[in-house]
Amino acid sequence: MLNGEKMLFSGMQATGRLTIGNYIGALRNWVTLSDEYTCLFSVVDEHSITVRQDPAELRSRARALLSLYIAAGLDPEKNIIYYQSHVSAHAELAWILNCYTYMGELQRMTQFKDKSAKHADNINAGLFTYPVLMAADILLYQTDVVPVGSDQLQHLELARDIAIRFNNVYGDVFTVPEPYVGKVGAKIQSLQDPLKKMSKSDENENASIYLTDDRDTVLRKFKRAVTDNEACVRYSEAQPGIRNLITIYSAVTGKTPEEVEKEFAGRGYGEFKLAVGEAVADTLAPIQKKQAELLADKAYLDGIIKTNAERAEHLAIKTLRKVQKKVGFPERPR
Ligand code: TRP
Repeated sequence: MLNGEKMLFSGMQATGRLTIGNYIGALRNWVTLSDEYTCLFSVVDEHSITVRQDPAELRSRARALLSLYIAAGLDPEKNIIYYQSHVSAHAELAWILNCYTYMGELQRMTQFKDKSAKHADNINAGLFTYPVLMAADILLYQTDVVPVGSDQLQHLELARDIAIRFNNVYGDVFTVPEPYVGKVGAKIQSLQDPLKKMSKSDENENASIYLTDDRDTVLRKFKRAVTDNEACVRYSEAQPGIRNLITIYSAVTGKTPEEVEKEFAGRGYGEFKLAVGEAVADTLAPIQKKQAELLADKAYLDGIIKTNAERAEHLAIKTLRKVQKKVGFPERPR
């Protein structure tokens, strides 16, 4: 049924529109890793409500994200692809782990500090304990590896600390997870300010390529990408815009930066930008098509959602029952 001995867990939030940065930096790596591990990929909708959401929009984005996982190449029979909110064990374990996490640890989380500053009118307790829910996601499945972006490493470190602390008191209950940080060089920058990371929430539409962008939009955004006056396609720190375009082109074509430099030696930026745009559009088109097909087939997608949540639950409940017993909750009479 599943692929490897070792367990892998990762998740994304269905807030904001995903960019090619999310695809190249995360989703595509998941597809590769899914051959090697037994994987759970969750749409972490419970995390999303730590910030106010429009309910209808959250629901439709969550469905779009779940279908995107599949469209990007994650097989829902070989992997477990599900909504966090469909497996109540996440919230139950999070409660217990809250009692094994210190205020001081959570106060040190840089994401909490950043988000509190950004949402000063809604610094809720969920935002504060967000990393504990994330620890529960991971520890529930006896996860060995967690692919995460560098911004989530601090949360993963906390999950490890909680697991170790719990194990020290109660014996070996949790597997202590390791981070999996993808290859370096796959960092995608803004097309309008190549010194900034490409973001889901940039106000400038032209800064990011969204996974939903159609071919014309992709070509237009690359055409407008900020470059320089060097007139030379070179992979150099001194040319961050061109360097970023080379990174993107390399990522979608599999060519090395040196090969790309050679391919475009003596050719103009206009030509290069068009080639990058076409390569990106060609990468996105089949994913968009598959996603649209999935979203159109309600019965099929609902079936996947239901069975995958059941498979996740089956695994989660084993850990949860063990933990409940360890901390002293009464046994359920059979
Ligand atoms: N916090 C992660 C993010 O915003 C998403 C997430 C939630 C996650 N639970 C997780 C990632 C468990 C990895 C493992 O990117």
